[in-house]
Amino acid sequence: MQVQLDMEGALTARDRVGIQDFVLLDETTEEAFINNLKKRFSNDLIYTYIGTLLVSLNPYKELDIYNSKQMDIYMGVNFFELPPHIYALADNAYHTMLTEYNNHFILISGESGAGKTEASKKILQYYAVSCPSTTLLNTVRDKMLMSNPVLEAFGNAKTLKNDNSSRFGKYMDIQFDSQGDAVGGHILNYLLEKSRVVHQNHGERNFHIFYQLVEGAGDELLQQLGLERDCQLYKYLTQGECAIVPSINDKNDWKTVKNALQVVNIDESYNNHLFSIVASVLHLGNLTFSPDSKGLATLRSNSDELQWVSNLLGVDAEKLHEGFTFRKIEAKNDQILSPFTIDHAIYARDALAKAIYGQTFTWLVNRINESMENTDPSRKTVIGLLDIYGFEVFYVNSFEQFCINYCNEKLQQLFIQLTLKAEQEEYEAEGIEWEPVQFFNNKIICDLVEEKHRGIIAILDEECLRPGDATDLTFLERLEDKMANHPHFVTHKLADKMTRKTLERGDFRLLHYAGEVTYCVVGFLDKNNDLLYRNIKDLMCQSKNVIIQKCFSTLDPGNRKRPETVATQFKSSLLKLTEILMAKEAWYIRCLKSNESKQKGQFDEALVRHQVKYLGLMEHLRVRRAGFAYRRKYDIFLQRYKPLCPATWPHWRGDPADGVEVLVQHLGYLPNEYKMGRTKIFIRHPRTLYATEDAFERCKHELATRLQAKYKGYKAKGEFRKQKEAATKIETCWRGVQARKEREKRAWAVKVIKQFIKGYMTRGQAKTTDNSEYLAFVRQNFLNRLKENLPKTVLDKTTWYSPPPVCSETSEILRKLHYRLLVRKYVRGITPQRKAQLQLKLVASTLFKGKKESYPQSIAQPFVDTRINEQDINPRVIQMIRNEHIKYTVPVIKYDRNGFKPRPRQLILTQTAAYVVDDAKIKQRVLYTSLKGISVSSLTDAIVVFHITCEDPKQKGDLVMQCDYLFEFLTKLSVIANKRDAIHVVQGSIKIEVQAGKENGVDFSIGPEPMVYKGKNGHLMVVTTRTRTR
Ligand SMILES: Nc1ncnc2c1ncn2[C@@H]1O[C@H](COP(=O)(O)OP(=O)(O)OP(=O)(O)O)[C@@H](O)[C@H]1O
Ligand SMILES: [Mg+2]
Repeated sequence: MQVQLDMEGALTARDRVGIQDFVLLDETTEEAFINNLKKRFSNDLIYTYIGTLLVSLNPYKELDIYNSKQMDIYMGVNFFELPPHIYALADNAYHTMLTEYNNHFILISGESGAGKTEASKKILQYYAVSCPSTTLLNTVRDKMLMSNPVLEAFGNAKTLKNDNSSRFGKYMDIQFDSQGDAVGGHILNYLLEKSRVVHQNHGERNFHIFYQLVEGAGDELLQQLGLERDCQLYKYLTQGECAIVPSINDKNDWKTVKNALQVVNIDESYNNHLFSIVASVLHLGNLTFSPDSKGLATLRSNSDELQWVSNLLGVDAEKLHEGFTFRKIEAKNDQILSPFTIDHAIYARDALAKAIYGQTFTWLVNRINESMENTDPSRKTVIGLLDIYGFEVFYVNSFEQFCINYCNEKLQQLFIQLTLKAEQEEYEAEGIEWEPVQFFNNKIICDLVEEKHRGIIAILDEECLRPGDATDLTFLERLEDKMANHPHFVTHKLADKMTRKTLERGDFRLLHYAGEVTYCVVGFLDKNNDLLYRNIKDLMCQSKNVIIQKCFSTLDPGNRKRPETVATQFKSSLLKLTEILMAKEAWYIRCLKSNESKQKGQFDEALVRHQVKYLGLMEHLRVRRAGFAYRRKYDIFLQRYKPLCPATWPHWRGDPADGVEVLVQHLGYLPNEYKMGRTKIFIRHPRTLYATEDAFERCKHELATRLQAKYKGYKAKGEFRKQKEAATKIETCWRGVQARKEREKRAWAVKVIKQFIKGYMTRGQAKTTDNSEYLAFVRQNFLNRLKENLPKTVLDKTTWYSPPPVCSETSEILRKLHYRLLVRKYVRGITPQRKAQLQLKLVASTLFKGKKESYPQSIAQPFVDTRINEQDINPRVIQMIRNEHIKYTVPVIKYDRNGFKPRPRQLILTQTAAYVVDDAKIKQRVLYTSLKGISVSSLTDAIVVFHITCEDPKQKGDLVMQCDYLFEFLTKLSVIANKRDAIHVVQGSIKIEVQAGKENGVDFSIGPEPMVYKGKNGHLMVVTTRTRTR
């Protein structure tokens, strides 16, 4: 949502915070330009575009616009859609590089303190966050980021213009592979301002690293380096009289640098060598010389310092001493030592300090390059970042400012060439008429400085090289001779009266593109020669300090040819840089200073106006607008404004150019207000665009509502479709799962059935793998079924589940076991009474089973203890037989011995005798001892005959009775009287002895009706049916 707002804010917020792109300014006056800058600056909007050029105005305060959220906002977004930002430019360069697969560079220019270095760091940080990353790439990325603190410590210093002024030029290539990953980097460094090592103007400092070391290093390291924690003790640190400044925290910076050194692969041992060199410079600065009697230089007695220098640089102290006080002159084969004056000695000392520091700086850059190097040979595209020292003017300007300002002049020339060229090419490419714009071309100044044989550098070199007494002043004279009429060159001698007042005799003045600078010629020759005495150079080659040794031996001491002068070297390096840059697509950041006193929020109008002027921003703007304030590719223009025309909304199906034509016709553009190029539309006046933009603004709200409604519907539909699809998918999946399960189940079943059938077919055979399972199944099945169908009672002999053959043996064993179990259960379950009864039944069985026909029917009749209640027996009778225990009573029918008349009687069995009782009378007492036999028929009748011993006269003869409970009665009797053997089952008839000697008989026969009667033969006739009915 925020992004959306910001995007729209790009054009709509123009009235409130000025205009974000100067190209859209209604009038191209300087006044309007400055006012716009001021308006935006007062709102902390430090960035403004001129087309794709970014103007940056130093706010001198931390703004919250460089956080990761901001980076996110700018990633991959169209350049003009968001408010101007350095991230937008970085992102646009990056994406153009990726899509067009070519090389780019970002030229950051502006005077000292305008914010170039800060801008280059912001860009690097943006790439570090926005590019794709891997662990490997992260280390490259860290090295690129961390190269900054190291190089700034060694190459930046506080000047009057800037507390962190770059004192060297830096061009850094960031290499990207085809995926857009940052895979390597390379730095080119340009002329370090070495003179700062030995001299600083008032209010300025030496390079940061010296102060960082003294303030930040641990006591142990300081001791090791022979240093004390007090910058005031070192001459090289105190000339500017501002060793300590509140805006710089050397102690903290030291920590950052130490850490950064580690990241760029400079380990502890190299650190020691590196800091030894830094410390040695401080010791060198404290070496002082005094004149001897002849005025020649001798080292002052503080030889400690010399010892420290020799220790730290790993060179012989004696030879070093010699190097400071004598010069070696080679004459034919001889070497002569020529003593120095004090000035020479100081020169030699300072030359050594500058040389070792300068060489060490180059070594550092090389080491950093090694650590960032990408060895993968595949093709890379690069984005180069150019951050050089800005144009600067001091109270006294020397050789260094001359070089620095010349460098800026060259870059301005490059900028003019590239912007004009690019613009012209665009108009040509688009077939648009091109109206040339007048601008100041600073080529004339570049030529003044660098032209072969005629330029200032050429003359300086000549003076340096020519034999004779060339001095800085003779150089000035030569200049005056050669440049006399040059419009950009003036000296005291050449100047008119007015100007002369502002010039010293030893000065020359150049009218640079950025303003006048007066240079003092003192030191130009020496600095340009940058000579180091040979004996000292040779000594350094033997140094035990590996960095010094390496640096000086590569200087090729064997080559006696005079090296190129500093200015010439610098000139060639800039030429090479121009070639490097010309081969790439350019992006520009123009940094402006808001005020000279580094005050936040202060807008010094005159200063800004001056910069706007000399940076050629107005010209650039005019070139950009050359008739057309605004241009945009057809598709992009159409994309933004298509809602304004029914024919192009919501889609234009044809060629975008035609669509744009239709659109602008609909909007009523007049023919002179716009031109159609090959790929872009060019709009002449900003107001035309504003009118369009305002229309778009109005239409947007309406559209937003429509879009919202459409979108909601679309979203709901989409959601529904998604859900439906999901449901179908799940259903299909589920069905699939089910089907697979089913198939598996069937396959399993087929297998099991097959095995079952095979088992069935081979069931008769011995157990094999084929039938074992089947047999097991059969066994289990049988056992299960058997379990369900076991006989429940002991008497159930028929229920037994018939076994399969394989189980027949088991079945038999189980059957027996089961019956035994049932019997056991049964036996356990019966009461003693029942047991007694069963025992009686058993007796009955032995007596009658298979003998008497009515026996089987009686089995089910339970026996009872007695059949007549004691109350039903006459008490007299009971009284009579009191002594004998009554064991059993039963009603009987007694047949008289004579005539066989039936008489109901009670039969009482006691322990000793059986009594036939008729109410109160005992009719007969049969002692068991006299009971010799008991007979019954084999038929179904109930006749019992007691055979009684007849010798006893008291006995009445045999007793014939009929008893319904025949078996019970006889069984009891047999037990009570122990007469088991006396009971006989007789076939046909029974003989009876009615009296002693008088016999009769009972005849049994089978007839249709049971009857008992006296037969004609005098016997008792008993007729029975086959099955006895009762
Ligand atoms: N975008 C910014 N936001 C806040 N402060 C800034 C910004 N840019 C620059 N500054 C302030 O301005 C100071 C100078 O900036 P910087 O060192 O980048 O200048 P420079 O153009 O590199 O100068 P020189 O040519 O001397 O190297 C910084 O130390 C910082 O305090
Ligand atoms: Mg800088």
